Amino acid sequence: MRAANLSIGFVPTMGALHYGHLSLIEAAKKKCDIVVCSIFVNPTQFNQESDLNAYPRTLENDIQLLLSCSCDILFHPEVSEMYGESMEKESTEDYGNFIHVLEGASRPGHFDGVVTVLRKLFLLVLPHQVFFGQKDYQQCLVVQTLIHRSFPEIIFHLCPIAREMDGLAMSSRNVRLTEAERALAPKIFENLSLVANNWKKDYWQSVLSQASINLQQEPFVFEYLSACDPKSLRELDTFQENAIILVAVRLGSTRLIDNLIIQA
Ligand code: PAJ
Repeated sequence: MRAANLSIGFVPTMGALHYGHLSLIEAAKKKCDIVVCSIFVNPTQFNQESDLNAYPRTLENDIQLLLSCSCDILFHPEVSEMYGESMEKESTEDYGNFIHVLEGASRPGHFDGVVTVLRKLFLLVLPHQVFFGQKDYQQCLVVQTLIHRSFPEIIFHLCPIAREMDGLAMSSRNVRLTEAERALAPKIFENLSLVANNWKKDYWQSVLSQASINLQQEPFVFEYLSACDPKSLRELDTFQENAIILVAVRLGSTRLIDNLIIQA
């Protein structure tokens, strides 16, 4: 297809597809002739065996969804095909300070696993353009660094977060929420919005504290709510107009992340 001068767009996923994934595929189809989607639950990016084992796997349903949208090729390799005998990970240690905060701090080695599998996938699929979701904002910065260093010819696209009607960011993990947890989960986006709507020089810190307190109420288990510089992910100590608010909480056994970009 490359030889025929067709442009190839690539959307890597771990399956359990939802509308958020499909929105990336539709974005890819707008820019490229051929859209490749991969489904591969990558063992090296999980911190806990239990999380890897509990990760939802819904291949039949995923295939139906891919048939109903603009996907042209599904790549669904086995672990042995991707890794052979060795589960060795490459290091992201020298990617910059942003690698060690937020998800990097909560999930040691996670981004090493992400970069390891994406390098393999990029080399196999040979995409011209790749499409990633803002939902995993820090991952997007990691991928941009990988591309800058190793695949400068690939064009990177950051795509907006697809949300449920009540604001909850779509996620493969949402199916693991109990009914009661699902009813509370929209509070995550409500509190991000509370911060964004009060993003003013004299209020931002008190609103951020209030939102943190709100997300520390049971049954939420609070990990972080952080206002950062969108490029460096440095936590803000003084007000700036362009910022990103990132959050991670747990509800029962399910870990949920979300974020909101604030632009002047
Ligand atoms: P996964 O969690 O399946 O996500 C695949 C892609 O879908 C990522 O780019 C993610 O940011 C995007 N995505 C997830 N939820 C979204 C939403 N609500 N709206 C828009 N985009 C959304 O991220 C991974 O898989 C893996 O780390 C991977 C990159 C495939 C490497 O294994």
